[in-house]
Amino acid sequence: MATTHKEWANQVLRRIDPAFRHRWVVYSDEVKNHLNPETIWIDCGCGDNEAVRAFGVQANCAAGLDIQEPLTGGGNFVKGDIKRLPFASGCADLITLRFVVEHFPEVEAYFSEIDRVLRKNGKVIILTTNILSPLIFLPRLVLPYPIKNWILSRLFKVDSAEIFPTFHQLNSPGKFAKGIKNLHLQHLEFISDLNYTRKWVFRILLFWHILTRPAFLHKFRTNILAVLEKR
Ligand SMILES: C[S@@+](CC[C@H](N)C(=O)[O-])C[C@H]1O[C@@H](n2cnc3c(N)ncnc32)[C@H](O)[C@@H]1O
Repeated sequence: MATTHKEWANQVLRRIDPAFRHRWVVYSDEVKNHLNPETIWIDCGCGDNEAVRAFGVQANCAAGLDIQEPLTGGGNFVKGDIKRLPFASGCADLITLRFVVEHFPEVEAYFSEIDRVLRKNGKVIILTTNILSPLIFLPRLVLPYPIKNWILSRLFKVDSAEIFPTFHQLNSPGKFAKGIKNLHLQHLEFISDLNYTRKWVFRILLFWHILTRPAFLHKFRTNILAVLEKR
């Protein structure tokens, strides 16, 4: 019987690393754990606003914000720039950024706004790329952006318009550990991206995942999940 790449990848993972959780699952569980009927949640750089559509009902109020209109409708959406958030100071309990901070050309101006809009003891959840991983920093070192964009769009079968320029200004565990403005690191986790769009890409990513199995090598995995608290 023919299996999809996803089923095939999950079968391989069940044998090799049954405890493995895909990055979307780890991130979504973290977001859901921070939602309750009182939470005011803003998903910054929401893209298609999937997260708010999926879990927004668990919050008091949830909105996705992006500089571009989502492709599909639904969910509470606000068009805006993270550098000039159209929200009152101290209004949000939770701000999430999934694959957004790597696109910030500089950290200060963006996080001043996030810091302003977040209430005291509010949380920021970030999922992003880890520049310590050779799978992230090598392509960045050797490939000019248009070529990297072309390769990534074909490898992962996404439209090249969906691949935004990356700057990696905040993308190392050391930078998160230092904190940003009034935001202090509460939790940091390294996650392997095991993308199964192509079987050979999955095999390379799996090889790297296995190689980085010892805890002291986790910091070379491709993705970082960080939770920060405003103090
Ligand atoms: C790689 S996409 C991630 C989308 C979504 N968070 C997800 O995980 O599917 C990055 C998103 O950040 C948005 N973005 C980048 N800079 C932004 C800014 N200054 N203000 C608002 N949105 C921004 C882009 O428009 C894009 O939708």
